[in-house]
Amino acid sequence: MEVILVKDYDEMSHKAVDIFENIVQTKESPVVNINTGGTMRGFYKELVRRENEGLDLSDVTVSVLDEYIGPKKAPFTVDRYMHEQFLDLLNKSPKNVFLINGETDNPEEEIKRYQEIIEKHPRDFQLLGLGTNGHIGANEPGTSFDSEMFLADHDDSTVESTILEYDLNPADAPNQMLTLGFKEIMDAEQILLLISGKHKAEATKAFLEGEITPEVPVTNLFNHQNVIVILDEEAASLLSDEKLEELSTK
Ligand code: PGA
Repeated sequence: MEVILVKDYDEMSHKAVDIFENIVQTKESPVVNINTGGTMRGFYKELVRRENEGLDLSDVTVSVLDEYIGPKKAPFTVDRYMHEQFLDLLNKSPKNVFLINGETDNPEEEIKRYQEIIEKHPRDFQLLGLGTNGHIGANEPGTSFDSEMFLADHDDSTVESTILEYDLNPADAPNQMLTLGFKEIMDAEQILLLISGKHKAEATKAFLEGEITPEVPVTNLFNHQNVIVILDEEAASLLSDEKLEELSTK
């Protein structure tokens, strides 16, 4: 695992797009799985800027990490975020865009459909954020490291984060998601995890200084061969001096 320590959110976003751009330019028909949330807004802003200036994404196949259960047009959906922050701002559309249908009344069928898509398009790249409780996608603490795409109930802290992120009335907040499981996430050739902000400092410490355990889902990434983590100073603020020293001398 490579951990890159950066100053702030902007530097994290730029470095992340550098890595993404390298994948897109070196792979033939690149396949990427991407996600949403506050962490990723700067990433998409920079990616869209580069695309508008000539970076070609028209041969890329895109799928997503998860989707809330709820109406497609609700303010919090991955569908809406992807369109508003990314897809609708591009000069040319990616070759394929596969989104998850969170409006489904048959989650099992939707899971089957999406797993078939994921299997048919082996991913070169997986983008991830980190939950304040250490979750990855909606693989909440306690989820087996063997999880396969499933309908997940959110922890209270995750519901709270969604309320804050999308400025929701608590009664309107979603509390379930269809999420890729670890089986699908770990199948990607390269994983990029972005972590920014003081509110992620405890989860970051548990990730980088604690034990590998399903109680801290992100620690499963230590079981993958090709992971890059970009971490800003605020997220790193609770790390021990030894750990910081180790990261800054790498
Ligand atoms: P955030 O969410 O980027 O909105 O903090 C990250 C996550 O829960 O994966």
